[in-house]
Amino acid sequence: MVKCFPCLLTGFISLDSGLSANESSPYKESPSGVWYSSDKEFIQSGKTGRIRGNPNGFLKKYLTLRYFPEGIRNCYILSVEKGRKYVIGAGFVYGNYDGLGINPVFDLYLGPNLLVTIDFEKKVNGTYENFLHTPTSNSLQICLVKTGETTPLINSLDLRPMRNDTYNITKSGSLKLFFRRYFSQRKIDLQYPDDVNDRIWNPYFQTDWTQISTTLEVDNSNVFLPPKDALKQAATPTNASAPLKIEWTAPNPDDQFCFYAHVAEIQDLQANETREFSLIWNGKQMARSIDVRKLMINTASSRSPQTCHGGKCSFQLIRTNRSTLPPLLNALEVYRFIQFPQSETDESEVDAIKDIAATYALSKINWQGDPCVPQQLRWDGLNCNNTDMSTPPRITSLNLSSSGLAGTIAAAIQSLTKLEKLDLSNNNLTGGVPEFLGYMESLSVINLSGNNLNGSIPQALQKKGLELSVDGNPRLCLSDSCRKPPKKKFLVPIVASVASAAILIAVLILFLVLRKKKSTILQGLHLLPRSSTVNVTFANKKSKRFRYSEVLLMTNNLQRVLGKGGFGMVYHGTVNGSEQVAVKVLSKSSSQGYKEFKAEVDLLLRVHHTKLVSLVGYCYEGDHLALIYEFLPNGDLRQHLSGKGSRSVINWSIRLQIALEAALGLEYLHIGCKPPMVHRDVKTANILLDENFKAKLADFGLSRAFQGGGESQNPTAVAGTFGYLDPEYYRTNRLAEKSDVYSFGIVLLEMITNQPVINQTSENCHITQWVGFQINGGDIFEIVDPNLRKDYDINSAWRALELAMSCANPSSSKRPSMSQVIQELKECIVCENLGICNNRGLESEDMNVDLDTSVVPMAR
Ligand SMILES: *[C@@H]1O[C@H](CO)[C@@H](O)[C@H](O)[C@H]1NC(C)=O
Ligand SMILES: *[C@@H]1O[C@H](CO)[C@@H](O)[C@H](O)[C@H]1NC(C)=O
Ligand SMILES: *[C@@H]1O[C@H](CO)[C@@H](O)[C@H](O)[C@H]1NC(C)=O
Ligand SMILES: *[C@@H]1O[C@H](CO)[C@@H](O)[C@H](O)[C@H]1NC(C)=O
Ligand SMILES: *[C@@H]1O[C@H](CO)[C@@H](O)[C@H](O)[C@H]1NC(C)=O
Ligand SMILES: *[C@@H]1O[C@H](CO)[C@@H](O)[C@H](O)[C@H]1NC(C)=O
Ligand SMILES: *[C@@H]1O[C@H](CO)[C@@H](O)[C@H](O)[C@H]1NC(C)=O
Ligand SMILES: *[C@@H]1O[C@H](CO)[C@@H](O)[C@H](O)[C@H]1NC(C)=O
Ligand SMILES: *[C@@H]1O[C@H](CO)[C@@H](O)[C@H](O)[C@H]1NC(C)=O
Ligand SMILES: *[C@@H]1O[C@H](CO)[C@@H](O)[C@H](O)[C@H]1NC(C)=O
Ligand SMILES: *[C@@H]1O[C@H](CO)[C@@H](O)[C@H](O)[C@H]1NC(C)=O
Repeated sequence: MVKCFPCLLTGFISLDSGLSANESSPYKESPSGVWYSSDKEFIQSGKTGRIRGNPNGFLKKYLTLRYFPEGIRNCYILSVEKGRKYVIGAGFVYGNYDGLGINPVFDLYLGPNLLVTIDFEKKVNGTYENFLHTPTSNSLQICLVKTGETTPLINSLDLRPMRNDTYNITKSGSLKLFFRRYFSQRKIDLQYPDDVNDRIWNPYFQTDWTQISTTLEVDNSNVFLPPKDALKQAATPTNASAPLKIEWTAPNPDDQFCFYAHVAEIQDLQANETREFSLIWNGKQMARSIDVRKLMINTASSRSPQTCHGGKCSFQLIRTNRSTLPPLLNALEVYRFIQFPQSETDESEVDAIKDIAATYALSKINWQGDPCVPQQLRWDGLNCNNTDMSTPPRITSLNLSSSGLAGTIAAAIQSLTKLEKLDLSNNNLTGGVPEFLGYMESLSVINLSGNNLNGSIPQALQKKGLELSVDGNPRLCLSDSCRKPPKKKFLVPIVASVASAAILIAVLILFLVLRKKKSTILQGLHLLPRSSTVNVTFANKKSKRFRYSEVLLMTNNLQRVLGKGGFGMVYHGTVNGSEQVAVKVLSKSSSQGYKEFKAEVDLLLRVHHTKLVSLVGYCYEGDHLALIYEFLPNGDLRQHLSGKGSRSVINWSIRLQIALEAALGLEYLHIGCKPPMVHRDVKTANILLDENFKAKLADFGLSRAFQGGGESQNPTAVAGTFGYLDPEYYRTNRLAEKSDVYSFGIVLLEMITNQPVINQTSENCHITQWVGFQINGGDIFEIVDPNLRKDYDINSAWRALELAMSCANPSSSKRPSMSQVIQELKECIVCENLGICNNRGLESEDMNVDLDTSVVPMAR
């Protein structure tokens, strides 16, 4: 049976810590219906345990746990979207898993900043900690830090992306939930799927209140999106002239709070009735009158976090003297502000140091969490400049002496641009001494002694103020005999031990190495895939480099915009007087775009195929970067499906033909290129159509060559378009051809159904969920794009649908290869055109669509 991760498709990350990967992972938690899976892939350390008995009736996700007897800090690393807002939930239950009966106390950190201390002495029955946070980088580190004798542990971890224009706070930090209540005498907690963001709402009521309620729908659609059910009831003070008052005591007098009060008028007001009230927060009037809308949410909030007088917090709604009705309140959220004074280490340096750790397969227990901060948890072998907490720390020294390093000196070292000292001595490093070390401005001490390096010392390293030790590298050539004809003579300030005095003398007469060949933008070319199939021509022979002035001329000063691409605008142009082209101009603001630009030039110059958009030329001149492609007059497939830009609706048989052509393009990338390529951004907007509606794949900006047939070795930063993104790739960061197959499946579903890939307003928000839900109805006409007016063979439509769903299988191993997809599409086309359809699908067992209704989150 196929297991699905519908929640991953919505971007949910739901981890049951300590669940062994083979122990029914994933499973559907009840009553929420959220799928939980093992945390194994998100953390490298810790041991697994299980609570003893379950007298409190905890949910399944709390029954297993991960504990950390080794290391001070152990961290989960989760892929997130920088700048997005997330609900983070972490569950902790001790449950005497170790039989010691001692309640642990430890800290929970987010990156370098303390979030909360987990103290089981105070929370004997465990605790679920809830935060709102906006990550400042694309990876989130949630760390458990040992603070005393006891061992940190965790039972569950949840991450829910939400709109980023909600719960605004201007200061840097995080909001810790203090309480989130809806005002009702019911006893039911509201949670997912009632709350699309999986926040939990507890019912609450005071004796001096009266409940009002409605059976009508209440519009909950402001940015906060509380559950509709939380708004259908409200509290009013029983004494109509008394205030509606909620008070609490701050755990610490310095605690800062902010609130979000959700109100909606749910009573049917008579003509002579009015409801108007003001909001008093800690004795100060925040709003003279709150706008209460009929059956529609309005949210009043404190603009910035505030302390309460003497730790006594008070929230009051008081009716104005114009009002005939008492104040009302439907739901209230109160958060405690947690300041994050410490900036995270510079993101590119974190990437670089992780890259270095991966290159040498270093597994140091202490190399977790932020490399530099907090200072007491700094990674072994590093030193950092952290003079100012508000600026990102920088790595100033890297000492991997005697660390068993093998292989060549890692290129990622050059990204540590503030590095002053580098000690790689006493390892088993081979290869040459890289030139880049000489170009690192701050680097003044390099110790490479005691390795197995060869070649000679690059000229760039022979400069004043650089202390370089290379003794004990028997194959390193320090005399001039091994050198090409010298140009200049230089003294090399090399520090060497007395034992290698002879070498020192040799070194003193060291000569310059031949200057390295001038590098060009296309320097990377030789690393790129060598195409092996016969129908390949090398486009770069024909392609032309243009000046920027020529680009302006051909586009008539960038006059006609065709669209917006991955990294800049696309303009229409003409070359040689008649040949139409599309000119993609890199927007200068986008630094990420520059890398993508280079990747795309490199790839397109090498790869040529009739089903891939070909490159006519390029422009690289100072700040000006542009790509000139062949022009495809019929725009992209997305436009034809949506009918936007006055594009015509294309019929079923042409859709199948387009799908086949796009599949051929992908198959070529996957198996026609050596090493194989993954496109990484397959979507309808990247399938372009020529005048005869022949399809070609475009936008290779995200493509990467990768080695080997299976999965790539180094996890790459997750890229692609949300909705088309392979959930397995999203989870694991491991990229393979099957990720393109997933995206292709989504494209195919779009072509069949013309449904949005993501529909935020629907419970079945992802297109695979929508289709899965519809399939249960068994009516193909309900599924296929109504614009086709039932003008298609039902069997070919079913076959295409099954193919699409198997491509979009959450498990990559169950997806077909592109070659199988092509075979199946060809049969669909024959079936459609000749009306002779047999029911033989490929690998019929795996190809069957999973009809298990549990795939679809059900309303309770
Ligand atoms: C899970 O796999 C491990 C090792 O493969 C095995 O020891 C363990 O018994 C398995 N657990 C279950 C519940 O099957
Ligand atoms: C812990 O749970 C037990 C059993 O449900 C209950 O009796 C006890 O009051 C709880 N303790 C706290 C501090 O909540
Ligand atoms: C919200 O997120 C989007 C996409 O990540 C980003 O473009 C936008 O600037 C963000 N807005 C805010 C207020 O952070
Ligand atoms: C949050 O900030 C964004 C951008 O500054 C703004 O558009 C949005 O309305 C704000 N949201 C709230 C709830 O204040
Ligand atoms: C109702 O509230 C008002 C204002 O707080 C107070 O003066 C009045 O005594 C209250 N009435 C009763 C019956 O409690
Ligand atoms: C409003 O009018 C109704 C009759 O239409 C009356 O019963 C009620 O007492 C009035 N309420 C107020 C506050 O005047
Ligand atoms: C309402 O009360 C305020 C004082 O609380 C007073 O200044 C104002 O004049 C009153 N308005 C009306 C319409 O009675
Ligand atoms: C550390 O960084 C600060 C800027 O954040 C800089 O002013 C200072 O000179 C640096 N100190 C060292 C020792 O590099
Ligand atoms: C690197 O660490 C080793 C011990 O691990 C120490 O002997 C050596 O002096 C350090 N190197 C530098 C440059 O500090
Ligand atoms: C060093 O690397 C070489 C080549 O990879 C290997 O043959 C040798 O055994 C290694 N030496 C040590 C001490 O690891
Ligand atoms: C370089 O490292 C070796 C081995 O760790 C050590 O003996 C030597 O003193 C170091 N050289 C310098 C200049 O620190």
